Amino acid sequence: MARRLPVVGGNWKMHTTRTEARALLQALRADLDGLAGAQIVVCPPAPWLSDAADALAGSTLEVGAQDVHWEPNGAFTGAISAPMLAGVASWVIVGHSERRHLFGETAEETNAKLRAILAAGLRPILAVGERQEESDRTADILRRQLDEGFLGFDRLPADVVIAYEPVWAIGTGLAATPDDAQTRCALIRSMLAQRFGAAAADNCRIQYGGSVNPQNIGGYAKQPDIDGALVGGASLDAAAFTAICRAVAAA
Ligand code: 13P
Repeated sequence: MARRLPVVGGNWKMHTTRTEARALLQALRADLDGLAGAQIVVCPPAPWLSDAADALAGSTLEVGAQDVHWEPNGAFTGAISAPMLAGVASWVIVGHSERRHLFGETAEETNAKLRAILAAGLRPILAVGERQEESDRTADILRRQLDEGFLGFDRLPADVVIAYEPVWAIGTGLAATPDDAQTRCALIRSMLAQRFGAAAADNCRIQYGGSVNPQNIGGYAKQPDIDGALVGGASLDAAAFTAICRAVAAA
């Protein structure tokens, strides 16, 4: 099996002014353009996507959106469609726990968004993960989120990246231990294998996300089933995000 190229995503969430975004984009390009050994996806807020596309054009850094609507167009005030994103981004995060739990995104919506992303020729980062109160049945939750996310899929699209993000680890500083994250990512891979076959599962990149920082990334980067990270808070700091990307690339 060819080694999977790890992916490091920076999910800026609802942070940065335009000035801050432009400065961060410039710094990331200066620090990370040409880095071998990891694919880097920068996911700024939607208003700065075209700034990101401009700032990173011609570099090895790629642009991702944080969410999408499932319809291609229509009377959906405030929503942004996948064909619109296709002009400025090449990736889209879908099913993030903040969309699921703070905005009430349903499993059907996650599935429809995933389809819309792929139909527009974009690459999805599908986020899954259990909440604190679900931690005694993590396997059931992950299986359900994968089954529902991929409902109606008869094969695993090669471009899908899965992000395992335990909700209790997001933004709390309470990162999962590398061993626990490895166990969960391996479990996700085995579920993908059961559903789509061993080859598809072997090729699928699975990230860990949840309080990743320059100090703890090394523990995740060396795990056999963890193929990079989805980074929130630390992705807003160019030096921290650069250190994370370099650690992943060097592992
Ligand atoms: P933090 O790295 O801030 O915990 O956020 C993780 C996350 O939700 C990335 O999508």
